[in-house]
Amino acid sequence: MYNSKIIGLGKYVPENVVTNEDLSKMMDTNDAWIQERTGIQERRWIKEGTDDTSAIMGAKASRMAIERSGLTKDDIDFIVFATMTPDYYFPGCGVQIQDLLDMKNVGAIDIRNQCSGFVYAISVADQFIKTGMYKNVLVVGAEYHSNGLDKTTRGRGVTVIFGDGAGACVLSREEDNTKGILSTHLHSEGKYADKLIVESPSIKHWVPQILESKEEDLSYFPYMDGTFVFKHAVVRFSEVIIEGLIKNGLNKEDIDMLIPHQANLRIAQFIQKKFALRDDQVFNNIQKYGNTTAASVIIALTEAWEEGKIKPGGNVVLAAFGSGFTWASAIIKW
Ligand code: UT7
Repeated sequence: MYNSKIIGLGKYVPENVVTNEDLSKMMDTNDAWIQERTGIQERRWIKEGTDDTSAIMGAKASRMAIERSGLTKDDIDFIVFATMTPDYYFPGCGVQIQDLLDMKNVGAIDIRNQCSGFVYAISVADQFIKTGMYKNVLVVGAEYHSNGLDKTTRGRGVTVIFGDGAGACVLSREEDNTKGILSTHLHSEGKYADKLIVESPSIKHWVPQILESKEEDLSYFPYMDGTFVFKHAVVRFSEVIIEGLIKNGLNKEDIDMLIPHQANLRIAQFIQKKFALRDDQVFNNIQKYGNTTAASVIIALTEAWEEGKIKPGGNVVLAAFGSGFTWASAIIKW
């Protein structure tokens, strides 16, 4: 059995900055509410008329990750793409990466696990490398939320939270099994699927229903029972981090960098307090990007690394919770 390690990181966010002030011109909201409840100051939303989509942003982040890894696109053996906002109903975005990067005919799969999608994707890639089946796997997380949000006051509880963006990494074989991804931990609880959901379009809500659909049909917009999700998030985040630490014989004091999914700054601060971590042991960038769902952990990891906050030999913990419900963690020896 091999381990896998991250050898290249990349990200891409659209240029268009949307501030809380900008949102207050579209709906009844304000900067104070958004900052106080979520920590978000601004987010990136793809500007109408530009070419960006989840796949295209994912391709841009992937090019950066591959270049930084020192490999070429032809060294990549497999693609794992996490998104809840794919360009098409089918096929998934993974195959688009193969095409956009003009790669060999390597395999590609999509992971549909929303906020925990990237940690699930890393875990899937890690298994392929562990068994020796593949040596270098490209793992991508990208979301194009802004085109699918209700930008009226009706949707304010959800719309102000989400942002667009992408991140990617190259995961590569590591022969020393004390280094790289030490373990991943994946969970789900489907009975709460309807607490954070986009119902349509789906095969249950297809062409006849779409044609009859009225403006008041909200099934096309994300629905979230925010308070319910929040309460579960803080519990599951903690559990899955502890599970990962125990598995590796680590204590909370051993965490050098925690990269939580960027769902709400208050959730990250709660976890920070619970694990008694200093500010420099937790990385947050929700202030700039909002919640980019499957892209959030990898954009944050990339920025933490770019800022020199991830040191060789350090214990890095990735953790996420979201729709499904699903939640996950990864323990990495950098
Ligand atoms: O990434 C996947 C996982 N997601 C999460 O973990 C998110 C978890 N949930 C949350 O982060 C929070 O629940 C939210 C940020 C979504 C909402 O914060 P909250 O403190 O739970 O607020 P709330 O939904 O209870 O709403 C409080 C009030 C309501 O007004 P009333 O009924 O008290 O008069 C809302 O209508 O705030 C109102 N409100 C807003 N006001 C201004 C809701 N959205 C807005 C808004 N601007 N954008």
